[in-house]
Amino acid sequence: MWHAQPEAKENSGHGRDTLCASLPIGLPSFITSHYPPAVARIRIAATKEIKEGKTITFSFTRDERPQEGFVGRFKGKLFAYENTCRHIPLTLDYGDNRFFDSKGETLICQTHGAVYEPDTGLCTRGPCAGASLFALEIVEEDGGVWFTGSPEKELD
Ligand code: FES
Repeated sequence: MWHAQPEAKENSGHGRDTLCASLPIGLPSFITSHYPPAVARIRIAATKEIKEGKTITFSFTRDERPQEGFVGRFKGKLFAYENTCRHIPLTLDYGDNRFFDSKGETLICQTHGAVYEPDTGLCTRGPCAGASLFALEIVEEDGGVWFTGSPEKELD
């Protein structure tokens, strides 16, 4: 179950801001009726900020636990994944927003060097070859990129 504030602020881009919070519980219905009943989307960044070969991290919650995701652009198309390696559940970066290799062709786990395809999330080389990053759902709208949720995790 996703929880987010109906008017989430824009992410600062360094991935350490928490953009989500649970909706108020126990408030009178004349107040809670102004909140959407389910998930509110979260604005990650302006579309133009996500340039080719660049990434921006953002925070979200799953089952009331903080999670981190990252969005990037590869061959003109946006992608978004949970920032979790499929070898060991560690972040792919070292908190420094470094996901792409030096040529901007693959995503790299900084810990043991697993190599992932940016457009599919598939690990093509390394200790978790054949597994895929967990994709996150995003949409482009109103000049921005919005996180809209995450499908159930499917293990490879
Ligand atoms: S933790 Fe990512 S390759 Fe080992």
